[in-house]
Amino acid sequence: MNNLIDLKNIIKSYNNEIKILNNINFSVNQSDLISIIGPSGSGKTSLLNIIGSLDSFNSGTYQFNNIDVLKLKEKEKNKFRNKNIGFIHQFHYLIPELTSLENIILPLLISNLSLKDSIEIGHTYLKEFKLEDRKNIKSNLLSGGEQQRVSIARAMINSPSLILADEMTGNLDEKNSELIFEFFINKIKQNQQTLIFVTHNNKLANIAKVKYKLENGSLERYL
Ligand SMILES: Nc1ncnc2c1ncn2[C@@H]1O[C@H](COP(=O)(O)OP(=O)(O)OP(=O)(O)O)[C@@H](O)[C@H]1O
Ligand SMILES: [Mg+2]
Repeated sequence: MNNLIDLKNIIKSYNNEIKILNNINFSVNQSDLISIIGPSGSGKTSLLNIIGSLDSFNSGTYQFNNIDVLKLKEKEKNKFRNKNIGFIHQFHYLIPELTSLENIILPLLISNLSLKDSIEIGHTYLKEFKLEDRKNIKSNLLSGGEQQRVSIARAMINSPSLILADEMTGNLDEKNSELIFEFFINKIKQNQQTLIFVTHNNKLANIAKVKYKLENGSLERYL
C-alpha cells in the first residue's frame, strides 16, 4: 500500500535563521491516527502548515498520494487543499463577519457546490455539532467552545481524506476538551479519515495509535 503522505528530508528555516525543522522524515498511511507533542516554539504548527500545503520548505520532498505538492501551481494547490485537507487551526481563523452556517459551508461553496445544496448539508453539520440555535450568529460573537465546533465542522464538511488539527482544544476546560475530542475522534474513525493532531495534553496524545515528539528540529516516534 502506498503512503498517503511522504515527507523526506524536510528542512525549514524562516529568514535563513536556525532550522526549525531539521531533516524531517515522516510517512503516514491512510486512516492513521497520529499525535504530535513538543515544546512551544518547536515547530509543530510549521510542520502542519507544510503538510497542509499552506507553507513551503527550504529543501526535501513532499508527496501526497503520489502528488508532488511542491510542483503544484498556486491555483492547483488551492484546489488540492480544498479537496483533500481539512485544517483546524490553533486560533480557529473563522471569518468574523460570517455566521456559523456561512463559515461551515465555505469549503463547499469553494468547491462549486450550489448554495442550496451547501446550506442543506450545512444544516446536518449544525445539528451534529449542536450548533443549530447558533447558526445565524456571527462567529466573533460565539463562545470559545462554539467557535471550536464551527472550526471542526468546517474542516470536516468536504469529507477530506486528511484532517490536520492544531491544538484544537487548547482554549477549552478539561471536561469540554475531552468531550469535543471524543466526538471528533469517533467521527474520524467512522469516516476512515486520516488525522494528524498536535496537542500539549499527554492524555489526548495517548489516544493516538502512533505518537511523535518534535524537539530541537527532529521528529521522533515514542511509545
Ligand atoms: N512566519 C514566520 N516567520 C518567522 N519565524 C516564524 C514564523 N512562523 C513561525 N516562526 C518561528 O518558528 C518557530 C516555530 O514556530 P511554530 O509556530 O511552528 O511552533 P509551535 O511548536 O507550533 O509552538 P506553539 O506550541 O507555541 O504553538 C518559533 O520560534 C516561531 O517564532
Ligand atoms: Mg503552534
